[in-house]
Amino acid sequence: MTTTGETNTAPPTSRYRLAGHWREARPEQELKVLSPVDGSAVGSVHEFTVAEVDEVFAAARRARGAWAARPLTERTGLLHRFADLLAQNADPIARVLTMEIAKPCNDAKDEVVRSADYIRHTAEDALRLVGETQFSDAFPGQARNKLAIAHRVPVGTVLAIPPFNYPVNLAVSKIAPALATGNAVVLKPPSHGALSALMMCELAYQVGIPPTVLQAVTGRGSRIGDHLVTHAGVDLITFTGSSGTGTALARKAGMVPLLLELGGKDPAIVLDDADVEAAAADIVSGAFAYSGQRCTAVKRVLVTRVVADDLVAAIVRRTARLTVGDPRDNARITPLVDPEAAAEAERMTKDAEAAGAVVVHGGGREGNLMRPTVVDHVTEDMDLAWVEPFAPVLPVIRVGSAAEAVRLANRSEYGLQAAVFTCDIDMAIQLAARLDVGTVQVNGRTARGPDHFPFLGTKASGMGTQGVRPSIEAMTRVKSLVVNLREKDLGGRT
Ligand code: G3H
Repeated sequence: MTTTGETNTAPPTSRYRLAGHWREARPEQELKVLSPVDGSAVGSVHEFTVAEVDEVFAAARRARGAWAARPLTERTGLLHRFADLLAQNADPIARVLTMEIAKPCNDAKDEVVRSADYIRHTAEDALRLVGETQFSDAFPGQARNKLAIAHRVPVGTVLAIPPFNYPVNLAVSKIAPALATGNAVVLKPPSHGALSALMMCELAYQVGIPPTVLQAVTGRGSRIGDHLVTHAGVDLITFTGSSGTGTALARKAGMVPLLLELGGKDPAIVLDDADVEAAAADIVSGAFAYSGQRCTAVKRVLVTRVVADDLVAAIVRRTARLTVGDPRDNARITPLVDPEAAAEAERMTKDAEAAGAVVVHGGGREGNLMRPTVVDHVTEDMDLAWVEPFAPVLPVIRVGSAAEAVRLANRSEYGLQAAVFTCDIDMAIQLAARLDVGTVQVNGRTARGPDHFPFLGTKASGMGTQGVRPSIEAMTRVKSLVVNLREKDLGGRT
């Protein structure tokens, strides 16, 4: 897609930070960030070498002790100032974000503001992290002569790897809990989104977060990815991305705690008694927000035959209203970041059509700009029923009963979220109990937020729980101090 118009506000790319110090960038190590909007160069980042990655981890190791030793209120105070500065810079960062990842401009700004809110909430919640004490006599045969004080300590150095779809927000959701709890962070931003992430890091340094405590490592995953995830300096990896990459990462990482948010094929289950118009509104926004490039997008509809015609008609009506085009104009459907995702979505759509499914809306693409597509009468033998397209394609599968919907929902390799649309709360609760997913949304679209809610996936959708409090806990480990108590003569009667 070709567009012309306003110029980008990209960060300076003539130098890069290494282990807290500025270095001059060398052209041969420059990685251009090309915009999915129009192919223009939004800017460039330094391509870190393996040796430089080693320097980064060494600097993190040297810096983290002093950071952890600072009073918690000092660390969270810095995070509050970071959040304020981020919110003040929402516009310039959002402009870069829009060009880097083709996110509609209003959504890009929301992402930055949401990130500032996330940091503030984390800074507040980290203050309330408390440990627990236990006396020994709660275990059979033990006297009351030992006291265990279990408290939380930072894990050390956290490797944070966010994806292209939220390069600021999903960076912050990893960085903030890690920093608040006294860890050093090595951030590996995605290639698309690296410029926005670097702008965000600079704001952190401006408020006084040391550039050795939070460091960014840019470059191609194919060059430095393995070195990063297998590095002896890593104490925890928090990664958001595809299930394929997450699984490969888990195999390589070995005995390092992992927090993984991976793919999904979230179903929206619509039952006979559902409010069809309301369900259609949620499904369309859930399926097509940011052109379907969200792990939590509604990626299939499982609707009972009784209401299927009405629901599909309502979905098509609403999908037809979505604007398609340039993210700078806040179009709802914008060019996809990964051109292969567009090609793959088109292939799956065509294959499904050839096998008997009906494309009731959209279907075509121009390069990486895929029209919002609704495919009805999808059946179990089609890829579209199971494969996750990171694209605006919504398959509809008609089912005979709630039980069949549950069976199809659970047959997926993924288990991120599911939505259930019904007016019968008993049915909703019983269905939810049978769905093998991290979260069931009753009468609402699948989504991660509000960000303090627990967020997790089962099966190929992830490992560990995120959200403000769970992430704070995940970035720490329990340390137990056992005090052995000796009888003392107090020298009189009490
Ligand atoms: O793509 C994965 C994100 O965690 C989804 O977040 O539900 O706020 O769009 P979201």
